[in-house]
Amino acid sequence: MKDVKILAIETSCDETSMAIVENGRDVIAQVTDTQIDTFKNLGGVVPEMASRMHAKNIFLVYTELFSSVELTMEDIDAIAVTQGPGLIGSLLVGINFAKTLALEYNKKLIAINHMEGHIYACNLSDTLKFPHLSLIVSGGHTEFVYLPENNKFQKVGMTLDDAIGEAYDKVARLLKLPYPGGPVIDRLAAEGEDVYQLPEPMNDGSLNFSFSGIKSAAYNKVNTMRMKEVEIIPKDFARSFQDKVMSVVKKKLNLAIEMYEPKQVSIVGGVSANSELRKLAGEDIIIPELKYTTDNAAMIGAIAYEKYLDNSFVDPFELDVNVNLEII
Ligand code: KG4
Ligand code: ZN
Repeated sequence: MKDVKILAIETSCDETSMAIVENGRDVIAQVTDTQIDTFKNLGGVVPEMASRMHAKNIFLVYTELFSSVELTMEDIDAIAVTQGPGLIGSLLVGINFAKTLALEYNKKLIAINHMEGHIYACNLSDTLKFPHLSLIVSGGHTEFVYLPENNKFQKVGMTLDDAIGEAYDKVARLLKLPYPGGPVIDRLAAEGEDVYQLPEPMNDGSLNFSFSGIKSAAYNKVNTMRMKEVEIIPKDFARSFQDKVMSVVKKKLNLAIEMYEPKQVSIVGGVSANSELRKLAGEDIIIPELKYTTDNAAMIGAIAYEKYLDNSFVDPFELDVNVNLEII
């Protein structure tokens, strides 16, 4: 079969990312403009600002991408874009750009579920094996997804409240650390000690998660200490939080493996950059390369190839965003 080159576009949150991916595996080029510097001191993403920055930067990302390769739109077989889940204004910028390109250059258009993209990020450095079990840990999601075969997805566990990355970001904000808090807490935890006695998150024998309890306990502890003017040691607090969170994640992962007996396991999404989780990587547990853990267009190109082979194309006149798009 002829090689398939897909132009992939990801704008679901605060990264304007575009990539050209060949056969779902080889990233020919990728350009990502991250808005993290803007949101670092604002405590999180401001959706309105994020969409305006996507609109301002998307064409620059596109021209930079094509100026870095010896290719033109003529060489592209299909355009793939994140349809959801994500922020509506951010998604709209990517979708409209993709539709315009598809119509102007008469290309096939593929709509992608961002979460499926996170899983297929694995194919950029490894090869997914089936039946497969994926633990998605990101800023917006925490879920177990079972793939009985290639390109088939079943959600088998999820968070009942906060996503794990969201809990990291909120606790970091509580400690007055910059956004995104996950990497900062992870870094500090390595130097700290577990002295703050936070409760372990829900460990109920199911594949569901709950992080609101540990988050509230963290708020209460910090507020009480501030009221009593007791000094809080951020690195120790980070360690106490990370130890409890990761301990339950590992227990649930072992339980899911017992229940589903997959041929291979993956840990994906922004929080898979976490040092404790990366220690789990080995022959049976794969984790994408660091640059493909957080939001990126290459992962959208990776899953889009499977949709291309499946002839799953959409009409540019019909495509709309779906902020709540879910794996079911
Ligand atoms: O997948 P992602 O880039 O965006 C979403 O789709 O949500 O994930 C971003 C999340 C943020 O909450 C960030 O704090 C978290 O991933 N994160 C980490 C680490 N690096 C990023 N959390 C814990 N430890 C890390 N090393
Ligand atoms: Zn993501």
